[in-house]
Amino acid sequence: MKIKIDLFSDTGTRPSSEMRKMMAEAEVGDEQLMEDPSVNRLTKMAAQILDKEEAIYLPSGLMANQISFAVHCNPGDEIIMDHTAHPIHYEGGATAVISGASINRLSGTHGIFSVKQFEEAVRTKDYHDPQTKLLSIEQTSNLGGGTIWPIELINKLTKRAHQLGLKTHMDGARLFNAVAKTNIKASEYAKNFDSIWFDLSKGLGAPVGSVLAGSSQFINKARYWKQRLGGAMRQAGIIAAGGIYALENNLERLKEDNQNAKILAEGLANIPTVEINLEKVESNIVIFKVKNKDSKELAEALLKDGLRVSVLHDKLRAVTHLDLTRKDILEAVEIFNKHLR
Ligand SMILES: Cc1ncc(COP(=O)(O)O)c(C=O)c1O
Repeated sequence: MKIKIDLFSDTGTRPSSEMRKMMAEAEVGDEQLMEDPSVNRLTKMAAQILDKEEAIYLPSGLMANQISFAVHCNPGDEIIMDHTAHPIHYEGGATAVISGASINRLSGTHGIFSVKQFEEAVRTKDYHDPQTKLLSIEQTSNLGGGTIWPIELINKLTKRAHQLGLKTHMDGARLFNAVAKTNIKASEYAKNFDSIWFDLSKGLGAPVGSVLAGSSQFINKARYWKQRLGGAMRQAGIIAAGGIYALENNLERLKEDNQNAKILAEGLANIPTVEINLEKVESNIVIFKVKNKDSKELAEALLKDGLRVSVLHDKLRAVTHLDLTRKDILEAVEIFNKHLR
């Protein structure tokens, strides 16, 4: 089956020829010995963008979450996050294996919970209770439908977490989609987080990698975990150069992805059987439900017309990204109309 328009995920983005050229010409060294100039340049750029003391290059976002949890928590401690969060659903149960922490899932709305919900979830210091160590939030919320945590709420939550003696972590897999939408600087979002990372391999278009940032003390501890997990690499400058290219060229254009998602969502909202909360389409993810249609069968039928989306139980998810043009999005709307009218 030939996929013409791939709305499955922004993880499928491919490096452009300009990015490939920069990768091919990258200066490299032994990353494990911290001697790779391109990796060092990338981590310096990331630390600067997030205004943190240091950053570390990792093969994946999953590893960035799990290393952060392992640094912040001991086995038996508890992490507070929304019930939709990535580590709960898509990290192979890694939190139980790597840090040994357990997860206290909050019932937020579209991936976002309140200060009150958070405060109620923090455990007492009674020895019967697991000890709450970490607040973790996802910017943007993936299963929440690309929703953006408002900066005021982030500031209140992180302040409260610190007052309560907890650490704070941001899974910023799509942080720059939020930045593109709100014009709030990444460093402003990052300000009150003890650890924060972003993915280079999603909307930013690099083939591999994430960068995790924090204090020098945090990054030093993260380095041990990176080594332990086999995440330390050798001539990784080849792939890191894709990340440098992305940070130099692909941040601004995320606005287009956000706008394309809005256009797609508006097209879907015009179809009477589609249930969608247009207001909650805030970045590049569109989650919707179709009345009286089995979501899996519908996805298969769309695929026959070259349109790929992902299935989330009874809903469908469509994600816009840099390999899709406005024309592709309008064509996708036409295909949806063909199948749903
Ligand atoms: C919110 C979120 N966190 C973490 C990850 C994991 O990132 P990676 O695929 O780079 O491991 C993803 C990937 O889709 C994600 O959407």
